[in-house]
Amino acid sequence: MKVKPVAPDRLPELLRAMPKAELHMHIEGSLEPELIFQLAGRNGMTLDYPDVESLRRAYVFNNLQDFLDIYHTGTTVLRTEQDFYDMTHAYLARAHADNVLHAEIFFDTQTHTGHGLDASVVVNGLHRACVDAQAAFGINASLIMCFLRHLSEREAFEALEQVLPLREKIVGIGLASSEVGHPPEKFARVFARCRELGFRLVAHAGEEGPPAYIWSALDVLKVERIDHGVQAIHDPALMRRLADARIALTVCPLSNIKLCVFDDLSQHNLGRMLDAGIAATINSDDPAYFGGYINENFTQTFAALGLSAQQAWQLSANSFNASFADDSVKRRYLERLNGCFETFR
Ligand code: ADE
Ligand code: ZN
Repeated sequence: MKVKPVAPDRLPELLRAMPKAELHMHIEGSLEPELIFQLAGRNGMTLDYPDVESLRRAYVFNNLQDFLDIYHTGTTVLRTEQDFYDMTHAYLARAHADNVLHAEIFFDTQTHTGHGLDASVVVNGLHRACVDAQAAFGINASLIMCFLRHLSEREAFEALEQVLPLREKIVGIGLASSEVGHPPEKFARVFARCRELGFRLVAHAGEEGPPAYIWSALDVLKVERIDHGVQAIHDPALMRRLADARIALTVCPLSNIKLCVFDDLSQHNLGRMLDAGIAATINSDDPAYFGGYINENFTQTFAALGLSAQQAWQLSANSFNASFADDSVKRRYLERLNGCFETFR
């Protein structure tokens, strides 16, 4: 759709009102410090931090691994199916407030089975919250299970085996955690099995890792979307491949700043990705840790890069087109998007 120009001072309002899909957020990364303390209290646990503010002050990271270490501490308070439900319900209420119509939520079971929980406790809690959010907020939410790439192929196969009785509650499979040193090829066989089982496939690649990891996520794992992918900018042939094949990138600008992938938002390459014809999207990754939910990612990135209303429409259209919704549902999302832009004054 060709969009009328919007004055820069009105853009934040449009960005907030615009319907959108969120395709890259880790549900454990939506655990706000307040909820961490609440869950610790009801599960009779004490944390290493005396209060909410001291925990929040610890959220300073030099790289992905720094973040993953503290993120792991937060996950230890999740003990019951209700804990997983409450965490997911809180995220979906927040996403609804940001006009998210469709959310594909990352989770992993390996963190929690490592804490002695059964994988079914995780999946059933998350899934029940997704079902209830449809009725409560009209938001369509589905689940993508990520393997943790710092663990072994054998452990990924075990995690897959454990969720097969719950197959219908999971739309896709992803790959997350420490990227450098754990290339996609390590998971070639388990991804091939997931493909046979009919799961949709995505993978984190090119967040901190090299463009070669994006090539192998596409050619070896055969994923449909790349999570992050910002390092593709260093490889012109890869940029052409992503653009020509309309392979979506789920970009997370505030995450990239917090984890020092870029020095500052004004240095972010999202605008260059869009100019190159790549189907980029904006997402929050781990909003409780990185300074904001999806609308905060939109408004700060647009302010820093001077992006336009046309690019706002494109980013939202990309998010719906790249989602795993049925084509008829995608068409309804795009109609709502166009309606929002037509009536915005
Ligand atoms: N797990 C949670 N957030 C992540 C990220 N940004 N990259 C890789 N794994 C993650
Ligand atoms: Zn991520």
